[in-house]
Amino acid sequence: MGEKSGQSQKSEALFKAPEDFAANANINDPDIYRIAEEDPEGFWEKNAENIEWYSKWEKVLEWEPPHSKWFVGGKLNACYNCLDVNLKKRADKHALIWESESGEIRKYTYRELLDEVCKFANVLKDLGVKKGDIVTIYLPMIPQVIISMLACARIGAPHSVVFAAFSGESLATRIENANSRVLVTCDGYARRGKVVEQKNKVDDGISSSKIVDKVVVVKHQDNDVEMKEGRDIWWHEVMEGADTSCEPEIMDSEDMLFLMYTSGTTGKPKGIVHTTGGYMVATHTTSKFIFDLKEDDIYWCTADCGWITGHSYIVYGPLANGTTLVTYEGAPDYPEKDRYWDIIERHKVTMLYTAPTAIRTFMKWGPSWPQMHDMSTLRLIGSVGEPINPGAWLWYHDNIGLGKCPIVDTWWQTETGMIMISALPGITTTKPGSATMAFPGIKAAVLDDKGNEVAPGENGYLAILNPWPSMVRTVFGNEERFIETYWSKWDNKTYFAGDGAKKDKDGYFWIIGRVDDVIKVAGHRIGSAEFESIMVSHPSVAEAGVVGKEDELKGEVIYCYVTLRTGVEESEDIKKELRIYVERNIGPFARPKQIIFADDLPKTRSGKIMRRVLKAIANEKDPGDLTTLQDPDVVQALKEKTKLFE
Ligand code: WTA
Repeated sequence: MGEKSGQSQKSEALFKAPEDFAANANINDPDIYRIAEEDPEGFWEKNAENIEWYSKWEKVLEWEPPHSKWFVGGKLNACYNCLDVNLKKRADKHALIWESESGEIRKYTYRELLDEVCKFANVLKDLGVKKGDIVTIYLPMIPQVIISMLACARIGAPHSVVFAAFSGESLATRIENANSRVLVTCDGYARRGKVVEQKNKVDDGISSSKIVDKVVVVKHQDNDVEMKEGRDIWWHEVMEGADTSCEPEIMDSEDMLFLMYTSGTTGKPKGIVHTTGGYMVATHTTSKFIFDLKEDDIYWCTADCGWITGHSYIVYGPLANGTTLVTYEGAPDYPEKDRYWDIIERHKVTMLYTAPTAIRTFMKWGPSWPQMHDMSTLRLIGSVGEPINPGAWLWYHDNIGLGKCPIVDTWWQTETGMIMISALPGITTTKPGSATMAFPGIKAAVLDDKGNEVAPGENGYLAILNPWPSMVRTVFGNEERFIETYWSKWDNKTYFAGDGAKKDKDGYFWIIGRVDDVIKVAGHRIGSAEFESIMVSHPSVAEAGVVGKEDELKGEVIYCYVTLRTGVEESEDIKKELRIYVERNIGPFARPKQIIFADDLPKTRSGKIMRRVLKAIANEKDPGDLTTLQDPDVVQALKEKTKLFE
């Protein structure tokens, strides 16, 4: 009790960076906010000078809501900006320090990374990949994932990286949507000492695909795989003898750099389109300002390249700043629960960027694990992916940041491409649990249903009021969905983020979480509708309603309410079968925490399942107005069933 009240007092505390951090920070003049607010385009234009262009833009922004074009007419290459530009100043500096779960370490200088990238770019060209062709990458966190992404960028082939833990089915859907001929994958990878048979997942997923005709396979785990004649090629064989020089393709600022699939409220995952110029300026600038990257930093972002964080804040932003990256392919508790702290100590990491779900797990494991290691090299720590509760924030601050590292809690999304709300570590006074303020040049607000700003302290919808360089350009092949999802809530100029938030009297943002049917399990985005459509494709299932239940560790977990088909008996066996079915069709990270059989689900009179009601039941909250329900008695029955699972 005593400790708790001490904590809550502390959670109202304010934190400022140590004086020497503030004095030397990349940004230490708060006037930057005023300058950027008065002239956002001028602000971005000035920062665009830090990127190398083959030819300059004619116009900073063309804004025809909700469509934007940035640095119109400018020409550049993203890979060139991540690698070649660094050769002049830091060719022999490490670009990447990679460590595997089993302890293997590989290091690449900027020069070496460029050689590998050029070689693979030439391999892709030999396979017939041309500017504009989408290449799918389905790799775990091994150096080749970064090499492939940059090789694609070098030749102007947009990449679509699919998170390695997704199932072969999910991979196939994304390949089909992107019409992607070439796939890069590996034989397998280890997680907590067990082998994941990645190539087998590929073979199952694309067995009937008429789209894929070349699969490049990295030999990583050395597990047995079947190589399909004419389709499958070993990475090491084609890389041998490949030329280490490859001229970067000159790309238009608005040429697509990559596609990143993400779950939405309805239907299948959508391909978020990011383009080249604005994205590079945005990620370069935010990395430099928010992570305070300097020449000697060793920066570790624990995200996976299968998600947007790995794109913006492992690959493009930090490399464009000439940073040394640390990446780790493995579990945080292998072989012991101090693996992260051991990595920080051995590689002298100065920045750590991770997720609240990880922080809460470390908290549960206790402070003795980090205390075993010298982590005094850390000078800044960051958080991303879901709201961080003040308790976890304070624990992170005291036990990982050793009370001296500024914390940047960064709010953003796949669609925004860059961090939108965050502290600037040299100047912002932070409050535990708040993402603080919009980045310079970004106008964020909390609005009500009508689009009016709500009063301080009141809940509303998070909105962005002006365009920014790395904003989503469209949903690949589905312009309607782009408009409908992001630009239809108010007017076509105001971006609807899908998050609930409030702003306090000091103007600080507090993000509450998704207000739509997107579930965030340990930071992974999962769409209810997508999940339900998979459930009902199982022969035993008649109907399914899937919602997020709040969870202390993972933020949210999945509760899945299911009615079975007539004649199918409820049993533990069916539950098990359904869990395996989800793993096979989406991936193990989407495993439902509970599958609850029901006789009926709450539905409107027109038969639509009311997830709002299910969500309230799962979270033991008041389900609100039930007058539109077909059969209000269903609610009581479901409440009782749910109780059995606590
Ligand atoms: C959530 C991840 C609170 C939010 C970069 C958003 C956050 C969704 C934060 C996007 C944060 C991300 N505080 N919530 N600092 N960062 N979110 O596309 O709900 O995987 O809408 O991008 O994550 O998830 P996505």
